[in-house]
Amino acid sequence: MASSGPQGYLPLREFLAKKLERDAGIETAADEILIVSGSLQALDLVNAMLLARGDTVIIERDTYQGALNRLTRAGVHAVGIPLDQDGMRMDALAQALAELKHRGITPKYIYTIPTVQNPTGTILPECRRVELLNLSQQYGVPIFEDDCYADLIWDGKRPPALYAMSKNGGVIHIGSFSKSIAPALRVGFIVAPWAALSRMLALKTDAGSGALEQMVLAEYCAPHFAEHVPKLTRGLRAKLDTMMETLNEQFGTSAEFDQPKGGIFLWVKLPDNVDTLKLYQAALAAGVSINPGPEWSTDKAYARNRLRLCFASPSHEQIRQGVAVLAEVCRREFGVPARIANVEKRVRTSP
Ligand SMILES: Cc1ncc(COP(=O)(O)O)c(C=O)c1O
Repeated sequence: MASSGPQGYLPLREFLAKKLERDAGIETAADEILIVSGSLQALDLVNAMLLARGDTVIIERDTYQGALNRLTRAGVHAVGIPLDQDGMRMDALAQALAELKHRGITPKYIYTIPTVQNPTGTILPECRRVELLNLSQQYGVPIFEDDCYADLIWDGKRPPALYAMSKNGGVIHIGSFSKSIAPALRVGFIVAPWAALSRMLALKTDAGSGALEQMVLAEYCAPHFAEHVPKLTRGLRAKLDTMMETLNEQFGTSAEFDQPKGGIFLWVKLPDNVDTLKLYQAALAAGVSINPGPEWSTDKAYARNRLRLCFASPSHEQIRQGVAVLAEVCRREFGVPARIANVEKRVRTSP
């Protein structure tokens, strides 16, 4: 077996095979792994293999904007399944699958980010994973598992991957080094049985992803990855605390959120009158960048007053300042929060 080639640098695939077994319970080998240019390319390859215009897929209602955009561009109908604090709701999924079947529609896949969901930060517990696999089998719909945040969990504990739990195949698993090492490297991977992997390899038109990055990663990761990750997550966790604390100070009860179990973002609900697409424009003009909810959800009305805040790259001080500016802009545009930094704003009664 050549160490370099379109499937990716062999030592990196061997590292991944060991890591996936240790962390996610996936028993795989280097020849079931395809290295791709970021997990975005993984999304493109899976979509190119499975989807055609007019198809239907199932997806978490609040989900990764890049996945949603791709489906819209491909003319694919995305059915959104609501989430709760434990990720995708299986009762809602069962209902959606039954309704689609009644209408003669078999969705092409169920796309899920089960381990630190984007944007909600939830982790699908093992019992729900069992239910999801059962439903997938019952309705003959494969699962597309996007695990790109799975390394960034505060307590390091995670249920096995769906790919590991599936007894009958039917799962494609993707991951990335973007969140654990660096997004600019553009190195992701697909784990799938060879029958599927070889079809995607044929669709990969770049004759293989950049080899240098893969070599650097393989050399770094084998001795250092395991000790690097806890340091990284400790830093991220501290930034999350700063962000939640500052949101509480600046927005009081106007900002509602559940504490994410890991990751790099917080999914926040503001009062009903706030339109986060408008807030996004006004905040950007004031130098603060937010992700408006409607771009991260299949249900634009539900997400109108929601937003995603990312805490990975700004410093603690930038997070404090950014949230304070956001609160000021939000108050100016929408009248909330009425109080800032626990101090009620004085209402001017005379000129
Ligand atoms: C859920 C999810 N999947 C895939 C990606 C793509 O990441 P990359 O192409 O950098 O691996 C992202 C990036 O934010 C993401 O959030």
